[in-house]
Amino acid sequence: MSDFTGKTVLITGAAGGIGTALAERFAAAGARLALVDIAAADDLAARLGADHRAFQLDLEDPVAIAETVAGIGTGMGIDVLINNAGLGVVFPAAKPDVALWDRTMRINLRAPWLMAVAALPFLKASGAGRIINLSSQAGVVAIDEHAAYGSSKAGLILLTKILALEWAPFGITTNAIAPTVVETPMALVGWSGEKGVKARQEIPVGRFARPAEIAAAAAYLASEDAGIINGETLMADGGFTIR
Ligand SMILES: NC(=O)c1ccc[n+]([C@@H]2O[C@H](COP(=O)([O-])OP(=O)(O)OC[C@H]3O[C@@H](n4cnc5c(N)ncnc54)[C@H](O)[C@@H]3O)[C@@H](O)[C@H]2O)c1
Repeated sequence: MSDFTGKTVLITGAAGGIGTALAERFAAAGARLALVDIAAADDLAARLGADHRAFQLDLEDPVAIAETVAGIGTGMGIDVLINNAGLGVVFPAAKPDVALWDRTMRINLRAPWLMAVAALPFLKASGAGRIINLSSQAGVVAIDEHAAYGSSKAGLILLTKILALEWAPFGITTNAIAPTVVETPMALVGWSGEKGVKARQEIPVGRFARPAEIAAAAAYLASEDAGIINGETLMADGGFTIR
């Protein structure tokens, strides 16, 4: 396991299913955590150790992003930024919900960019900054009713490449992870019953991903060992997109 002692890892959406697994993994590897979410993550921070801090932030608010990240960076530094928060709503493409489309884009695509911009001075100062964006298999292949979500996650893959290109000279690498369905409490509700059985059958490995497997992928991309990997999207999808 990589050692993140002395490093600060900022995780957005930390109160959620994958966010919690990310926090547990990086805390176990010695990192100091800045846990960011619109929901309270104080209990999680306290459970994982005295060094960690929780910050309540609405990622739809650009001014709040700039202020919160500046505060975190000044107080704790930022070595690794994990843009994990996301909104997973679906609707048929022929029945547009404009408000939901815009909200999806603000949270899933605009916020990772603004978080990265706000974290940039601190990632530069780190000397080996890392950005990891949580995309999805839905950003790579077409999935029913995923017009807004899939487009936001596809956009995030290209944003990953652009930051990777522009910011590599600062010693910063930027990569994405694109999971299949991950067995978080919320995902299991959405993919229950026959829908879930069918979805599992369509994944070559025959199962969904576990949150800890996504955290392990992030730990690798954040590690020194992954220093040459930049602009990549690591598929964590059991082979769903290989056909
Ligand atoms: N679970 C899956 O099946 C799956 C599959 C592929 C990709 N992903 C992606 O992984 C990431 C994490 O997913 P998850 O399953 O843990 O989701 P989740 O819903 O359990 O957690 C998401 C977190 O983001 C936070 N959040 C939402 N809107 C916010 C806002 N405006 N400001 C601040 N925080 C906000 C929520 O409060 C929540 O804690 C997301 O980007 C998601 O799209 C999930």
